[in-house]
Amino acid sequence: MKYNIENKIDNINIKYDCLMMYLFKNKLINNIKLNNKEKKYIYKKIKKNNFIGKLNTYLTIKNKIFNKINYIIIIGCGKYKKINTEKFIKIIKYSYIFLKKKKFKNILLTLNNLNIKNNYWKIFNIIKNFEKLNYKFDKFKTKKNIKDNKTINFLVQKKNKNNKYKLYIKNSLIISKGIKISKNLSNTPANVCNSNYIYKKVKKYIKNKNIKISYINKKKIKKLKMNSYLSVNKGSKNKPIIILIKYKINKSKPIILIGKGITFDSGGISIKPSKNMWEMKYDMSGASSIYGIMYIVSKLKFNINITGILACAENMIDKNSTRPGDIIKTYSKKTVEIINTDAEGRLLLCDILSYVNIFNPKYVIDISTLTGSCIIALGNKISGLISNNKKLSKYLLKASKQSKDYLWELPLFKKYKKYLKSNFADIKNCSDYPYAGTIISACFLSYFTKKYKWAHIDIAGTSYNEKGSTGRPINLIIQFLINYNIKNNINEK
Ligand code: BES
Ligand code: ZN
Ligand code: MN
Repeated sequence: MKYNIENKIDNINIKYDCLMMYLFKNKLINNIKLNNKEKKYIYKKIKKNNFIGKLNTYLTIKNKIFNKINYIIIIGCGKYKKINTEKFIKIIKYSYIFLKKKKFKNILLTLNNLNIKNNYWKIFNIIKNFEKLNYKFDKFKTKKNIKDNKTINFLVQKKNKNNKYKLYIKNSLIISKGIKISKNLSNTPANVCNSNYIYKKVKKYIKNKNIKISYINKKKIKKLKMNSYLSVNKGSKNKPIIILIKYKINKSKPIILIGKGITFDSGGISIKPSKNMWEMKYDMSGASSIYGIMYIVSKLKFNINITGILACAENMIDKNSTRPGDIIKTYSKKTVEIINTDAEGRLLLCDILSYVNIFNPKYVIDISTLTGSCIIALGNKISGLISNNKKLSKYLLKASKQSKDYLWELPLFKKYKKYLKSNFADIKNCSDYPYAGTIISACFLSYFTKKYKWAHIDIAGTSYNEKGSTGRPINLIIQFLINYNIKNNINEK
């Protein structure tokens, strides 16, 4: 889809297939700049058709009052007072479904009547939702979807703000594209999407003079003695890789974003049940969200340093696989007894978490499909958050509220650390205690994050659903970065 700004209903140069406007139940359209004759004309039609503006209804009027418009479409919005972000998104979704059914190509869309926030916010959210609804993953279908060639023209009255509106359109499209390429990567099955494939995609899509992409290959991982990281990949014929994407714009401490990138999680020798095991192709969703985020970072102009790290490997079964009971020495020198090879995410992450100390980070945030327990605790609409720093979790929760990319904080409850005591090594990778699996996974990680402010986001439930990858929590992290960027710039002045 394409998006544009229009300042007049009666633009003599352009013909529109339809003018789309919004009507609340029993509330007259006052906000749109119409003259009395135009208003009368529309009201007459509304009355004649007994249209009352119920949510998820529409009225089509064959236009005879504006020169260059074929149809007037009125979308019902329900009760006037009840508009909030969720309802706004419902209305937008309905508009999209309506447009999808019709052959309209050039659409003039009025924003004024949607009484929520400002026009910039509306444009941002309409584009993001339209693009989301328009997403189809057909890479492996022989018959591809036909591309949508509609143009949405936002009708805004003040011409002097056009440039700012256009910037919002541009940025909304950048964010939508970041989400789209991340979903594509997550949806790609593990026989295609291995560590090397992820690296190729990163190189292809992320390019900017302030960005440096590097990697740590298997040989180097070995040399660095990241034995915990390596233990995960031992059963796989695909090589592990750590991809580093550094966006450096000034001398400030970087925000480090780490993504779990298990391209397939069979469980290893502690094999998973076969039911739904195919879903474990999504076990690289943390890494793929970092990929989307860093694409967006490369296109928007943030004034903060951000490093994205994609920790890629595959957890497979083989004669070389790590066995339950094996003891390894992590990069931090702490030894770990691997009780369950299916608790591989934390084994991968712990070495990266120790490694990032060299970057002297401002904050470290890891995004991981880490525990099935998180789905039991929070379902598939809310990601889990666990942090060792109140301020950081406050910022993330705020960004979550703004972006509607839901997040709920669980405690880093230190007393549960005792369940990770091992008889044979310093700690073990999972406990016999059958409860609070998400908190215990974070307890494990917390051994390796003592030197900085850290937050862990568990996206096991939210990163995919029955329709495929969701692209979460990209919106959340981008909102967090935008807020942090604004705050930082003010502090500098
Ligand atoms: N990748 C899984 C977690 C997961 C489960 C993600 C379901 C998405 C959907 C992770 O590696 C895992 O297997 N975790 C184990 C940990 C346990 C062995 C301590 C789990 O949650 O069962
Ligand atoms: Zn996993
Ligand atoms: Mn696992």
